[in-house]
Parts: sequence; C-alpha cells; structure tokens
Amino acid sequence: MTQLANLTERRAIIDACLAMNRLGVNQGASGNLSMRIADGFLVTPTSLPYDEMTPEDIVAMGFDGTYVGARRPSSEWRFHRDILRARADVDVVLHAHPTFATALAVHGHGIPSFHYMVALAGGDSIRCAPYATFGTQELSDHALAALDGRLACLLANHGMIVLGKSVKAALALAVEVETLARQYLYAQQLGEPVILPPAEIARVAEKMRRMKYGQPIDDNDAPEDTARPRA
Ligand code: 13P
Repeated sequence: MTQLANLTERRAIIDACLAMNRLGVNQGASGNLSMRIADGFLVTPTSLPYDEMTPEDIVAMGFDGTYVGARRPSSEWRFHRDILRARADVDVVLHAHPTFATALAVHGHGIPSFHYMVALAGGDSIRCAPYATFGTQELSDHALAALDGRLACLLANHGMIVLGKSVKAALALAVEVETLARQYLYAQQLGEPVILPPAEIARVAEKMRRMKYGQPIDDNDAPEDTARPRA
C-alpha cells in the first residue's frame, strides 16, 4: 500500500479541529479547516464528527475544484479554495460557529475597535459579511470581500472565518475573536462601549508588529520597545 501523502499535515488538521471544539470555538461537526500544500490544499470532509476523523478522511483538492479521496470535501470548499488562492499571506483557513461571534453575526454586526486587541485581526474592525446560503459562491465572494486586509471576519447568520500562517496561529486568533465577541456583548449591557479611533488602532497595530506581539521571543532578535533579558 502506498504511503498517504501529507500525513503530518492531515494529523495537524484533525488535532486543530478537536482543539477548536475543546476550546469552545466550535461544536459538533460544524466548522471546517483547510491547509495549503504544494499542489493545492487539504480540507476536512463534510459532515464527519471530528472525533471519528482519520488522516485518510482529509480531502486533497486542487484550485480547479477537483478532489482526491474517499470522502466528499467540506460543503464550504469554495471559500477555502478562493481564500487560499487569493491570499498568499496565509496557509490555513478555519471556519467555526462560535456562540458569541455568531450571536453578533445573526444581527449582522461585526466587532468594532472597542478593545485594542481587535488590531490582531489586521484592522480597526472585524467585519461581518452579508448572509448567503452555506456552500455557495455568493458566500465565498462575500467572505473574501469582508476579509480584505484582515485575518478574520464574521458571516451573517452563520459564524466566523479566521486565517493564519499556521494551524496554531489560526486557532489562537479564533479564540481571540470569540473572546472579543463575548466581551463586546457583555460590554453592551451598559450601552454602546467607547470605540477607539482608527489612529489609535493603527498605533497599536504598529506596536504589535514591532514587538512581534503574540510570537515567541527569540533572544537573538529581541524586538525594540520590549524589556531586555538580563545579560
Ligand atoms: P461541512 O461539514 O460540510 O464542512 O459543513 C459545516 C459547516 O459549518 C458549513 O458552514
């Protein structure tokens, strides 16, 4: 029997899906995840509970929409394909139905800059893409537009999409976006919270870039503007 290609990547996808549910950013068999490979991308199969998923179940797809494997690809393969094709800056697309982010999205609300951590998603807001039926080209087009210049968006009456260079980065950002949605919903109990102006979010984004915020510190490449390790 021939060795299954991209076994490490297939295992990483399953681990990330299990983590997604464990961390509370998704539940059941909803959500899906894809990862760029040399000649296309890997994507989770449709409608299969993550705890039953094996590496063989992960589907290998080309950017032409053809696939190889015993399972059918996620019903959302179009937006995975379109995002990976359009965004050379990311290698992983994560889609989930987190409770708090979805609670905002069913009202068509994105997340404004009520908290500086919104800048982690790449801009001064996390947009909410207009509603379209799941799995359609229309939904993919809306998602791609809402993700312009961003690493995350909400999908009206549906859920969220998060992008990353790695599975670990996408998962961490998914947890952050869901936390922001929860904080924003709680904050709204006292009325609309204070919104930070775009200039402050730009300052935060620049500081995050300079500090390599959220990335492991390499002592040999200590970013400016941070505490120094004692010699
Ligand atoms: P799939 O099981 O087809 O990936 O669909 C789940 C989902 O979340 C659709 O948006």
